[in-house]
Amino acid sequence: MTLKEKYAPFFRIGAAVNTRTVDTRAGILKAHFNSLTCENDTKPEGVTRDGVSYDFTRGDKIVNFAREHGMAFRLHTLAWHQATPEAMYGGRTREAAITMMESHFSKMAAKYGDAYAVDVVNEALDDSEGKFLRDTPLKAIIGDDYVDVAYTLARKYFPGNALVYNDYLECDPVKSKKIFELIHGMKRRGVPVDVFGFQSHYNIYSPEPDAVRRAFELYSKLGVRFQVTELDASLFAYGDASSLPAPAQELLQRQAGYYRGLFAVYREYAELIDSVTFWGVADPDSWLNNFPVKGRHDWPLPFDGDGNAKSCAESILDF
Ligand code: G3I
Repeated sequence: MTLKEKYAPFFRIGAAVNTRTVDTRAGILKAHFNSLTCENDTKPEGVTRDGVSYDFTRGDKIVNFAREHGMAFRLHTLAWHQATPEAMYGGRTREAAITMMESHFSKMAAKYGDAYAVDVVNEALDDSEGKFLRDTPLKAIIGDDYVDVAYTLARKYFPGNALVYNDYLECDPVKSKKIFELIHGMKRRGVPVDVFGFQSHYNIYSPEPDAVRRAFELYSKLGVRFQVTELDASLFAYGDASSLPAPAQELLQRQAGYYRGLFAVYREYAELIDSVTFWGVADPDSWLNNFPVKGRHDWPLPFDGDGNAKSCAESILDF
């Protein structure tokens, strides 16, 4: 049985892909996944250099693959402090920046309005204690209400799509309070946000599945749905800069146990979860081969470089 078949009663199983992996991993994608996300190609800089002329070739390649194979897709991401050309918002007044935002959203909706979910503002919150919103160009130009402005505009152009607030460190005690407060405040002000996106960049030691359960419990009070948007489980603990020539069996076993525990929690909360998306398909394609240590190999995903299901994929399927 494949991942998408086994999980059909629970939620969609997704993968992030780029224009290369959508070809090289096509067989695995068709067999195991029923949701796709463009890892980079629908970010602002993936489609435009200036917010005026657009080139959707790369995003189209991936989204058309999804459409042709009856897969749903998530649109990632409309507004982010990274991967955004300076020329889009730099040097503009608040009004001109809002006009640019509206123009960008309308162009993305015209192309990708059939996405089931849209990451509207990505990672708006600061990681450190004591500071709420992250200092970003959009915050500096538009003001502290830029998140509200973005979701209100997004609703106009994506009337029937799930609007997602997507962030990381979602199980961290400091950050999770802020995520709760941000979404709670938006709800109170009548700002349209439908889903919290748990990015879920984890490692095989942390956060423990119990901490993930507590996070689900906390956010379930918000009255939003959940999507796991960027899941991976590094073999390296946070802050560990060492490297390995190959993944030790013991670590792969631990990873299998980790994913097993995580998916058990996901199944507990399945009624609230639309989809669980891995940030990649096979280990050699992961962004973690360049982060936090450039060029260091990591093995965070369910398939190996030959396209074989790893023991962690088996453990997800075994229940
Ligand atoms: O495509 C260019 C290539 O032409 C150039 O030669 C090369 C030189 O550095 O860069 C290539 O672009 C890189 C791109 O990935 C494609 O590989 C960018 O430098 C690099 O910054 C970019 O990194 C992406 C990162 O977001 C920033 O946009 C990662 O692939 C992607 O996995 C990562 O994804 C983010 C999510 O969007 C949001 N949440 C966190 C997650 C991980 O950082």
